[in-house]
Amino acid sequence: MKTVNVGILGLGTVGAGTAETLLKQGPLMEARTGIPLVLKKAADLDLGRDFGFEIPKEILTTDAQEVINDPDIQIVVELIGGTGIAKKLVLDALAAKKSVVTANKALLAEHGTELMAAAEANGVDLFFEAAVAGGIPIIKALREGLVANPITRICGIMNGTCNYILTRMEREGIDFEVVLKEAQELGYAEAEPSLDVDGWDTAHKAVILSQIAFGVPLNLEDVPVDGIRGIDPEDVKNAKELGYRIKLLAMLDQSEKGYSVGVQPVLIPMDHMLSNVHMSFNAVLVDGEVVDETLYYGRGAGRLPTASAVVADIVDAARDLSGDAHARIPLSWNANPAPAWIPPEERLERSYLRLFLKNAPGSLAKVAEKLGSYGISITSLVQHENDEEGGFVPVVIVTHVATVGAIQSALADLAEMPHLVEPRMVRYRLEELNS
Ligand code: HSE
Repeated sequence: MKTVNVGILGLGTVGAGTAETLLKQGPLMEARTGIPLVLKKAADLDLGRDFGFEIPKEILTTDAQEVINDPDIQIVVELIGGTGIAKKLVLDALAAKKSVVTANKALLAEHGTELMAAAEANGVDLFFEAAVAGGIPIIKALREGLVANPITRICGIMNGTCNYILTRMEREGIDFEVVLKEAQELGYAEAEPSLDVDGWDTAHKAVILSQIAFGVPLNLEDVPVDGIRGIDPEDVKNAKELGYRIKLLAMLDQSEKGYSVGVQPVLIPMDHMLSNVHMSFNAVLVDGEVVDETLYYGRGAGRLPTASAVVADIVDAARDLSGDAHARIPLSWNANPAPAWIPPEERLERSYLRLFLKNAPGSLAKVAEKLGSYGISITSLVQHENDEEGGFVPVVIVTHVATVGAIQSALADLAEMPHLVEPRMVRYRLEELNS
């Protein structure tokens, strides 16, 4: 079969890992696919850095356009990141009728519709497996393995930094800030951690999965996003006592009423498989109407796990080129009819609440009455022995399903009753994850 030439833009951690994998695993991939893949050029502004392996000098350049405009290169791999220059280079490559592979989640989440349209207009492929959950082939699973399935739920642990921090907080009973600092010193967490710990990295991935699962353009701004910064070891301990573990989850749900997407810390049962995804590992649970529940587990980041996904996309693009095709495996980016969007306040959720109540006769009854007035029923309640007469004592309440709007209104009312409840109130979603 004819050789397919590849050019890489960006030789950072993932770019260098991709170059290394292409060179080292080239013979294996050729044996498996019959297609010789050649890394023809690789561009990076800093060619003096240590790439972690011997990269042939003659393929290196500092000029991205030299890669894009090389007439022999059919596949351009964008591994620069960000939504600035990366977007321009991806559009340039698509306009030059090159298939593009990228791992850029922010770019796909913010400009996916425009980029997909550019790929379609130029009759080339745009692949992005590595943008979601690193080495886990979740996009391939959704597009191919589960093609027969209306998707009813996706529930993913898709940020290794957050999962690492939450695992250590639970195991060692220590504060978020302490683990974050150590994780930064060890190089597990970024010096500027907000993209990870405030939930935005997970949200980018959730938007991409939502597009694929539900086929509707979704704006990142419409997704409620809450990170792990505010999680108190006390809540981690309380969750454990109740038989749950706190995980940062992307939750995508679809029913006959419509679909919803959110990123938030959620209490899930300790014995559920997702609960047992520890440290920096990722996992994605997908519920399909035909297949029922499926679960995908692996490394969501890192030089070679991410390269594994990038190279799989390169092979897919090369297979299309060898068959003189594009979009051989279609991606429904615009479903018709589109499902309705369920606004965050109309979603039905169970809640874990931690309130500080005045230690006085009738306090609990008043809180229960307030929740009841919004149709919120209590399923369990924990108050440890406390003889601090007249002070404020912690009470943990778990509720039945209620709309998020009802819970928010009840808590807003309670916040107006400082003689009864302290203003600091904690609420997390609680999910049994039953299919
Ligand atoms: N920073 C991400 C994580 C990996 O911690 O999982 C890239 O999305």
